[in-house]
Amino acid sequence: MIIGLPEFFQTSGLSPEVRNYLLLFVEDRDKELLLHKDPGGLWEPDGKKGDWRNVTEHCLMVAARADMLGRFLNLPKDVQEGLDSAAMLHDFYKRREIEMMKNGTIAGGDGLVIAWTAGKESEKILRRAGFSELVISLVGCVGGFPQIILRMKEILDAPDLKPEDVAHLALHYIDGYTNGSSLAEPAVEEGDKIINDVDRRNKKNAERYSELAKQSPPEYKDHPFFGKMTLFEAQAAMSHLIEVRITEILHDNGGRSIKSQLHLPEYIDECIIEAAA
Ligand SMILES: [Fe+2]
Repeated sequence: MIIGLPEFFQTSGLSPEVRNYLLLFVEDRDKELLLHKDPGGLWEPDGKKGDWRNVTEHCLMVAARADMLGRFLNLPKDVQEGLDSAAMLHDFYKRREIEMMKNGTIAGGDGLVIAWTAGKESEKILRRAGFSELVISLVGCVGGFPQIILRMKEILDAPDLKPEDVAHLALHYIDGYTNGSSLAEPAVEEGDKIINDVDRRNKKNAERYSELAKQSPPEYKDHPFFGKMTLFEAQAAMSHLIEVRITEILHDNGGRSIKSQLHLPEYIDECIIEAAA
């Protein structure tokens, strides 16, 4: 355990039991956490913002969820290990990515292209640090880039899912609804539909990145999956498709019954709370 992590891990809204569960979960994750520190710079002061430690906290929550879901999906040990590691790492370069986007867009660059370039940079860092190709590939499957959404579609459309494919779907899905490091809110009726954390997270992203939420990604506007959907609508649609598939696998594996696939985020957290007690 890296000295200092428990002191800064202050996530509000979590019970002491869940907080301790998350901390125990990262006891053997020094190799991943070190990249958060350097070159990620997540624990260093950053002017008015304070620092970026909330990103490490978010990674902790994503990792605990990925670990719990992976167990229910009966992933083999090596794939589960890769999934846990990738979940801890998936945003280690977030500060650098956002800094690159800020500087690049001021200079007239395309935010999405710059963020994609930052992702490629982080891939090189992971390879240099000795992480496996599975971990690198898993880290590369999070986020709302059109390329990643289509990669998830390719996996879903394939006739058979290998354990590695399931791990990719699981990580993409979990990061797609994890809001900071908060526990999942229940799925509720809103008008004529039921919404869950997938919809809430994408709504929040659409408000935050309002320019991207105005139109479908130009190069994908004729794509049969994207059609007229904006990036965030497409991301939500893909997350819900993955949600259906994962819930089917959980049922086939004889797990506890879930009211409907829309309750999957709550179900995973209920299991974490139980395990933490
Ligand atoms: Fe994330």
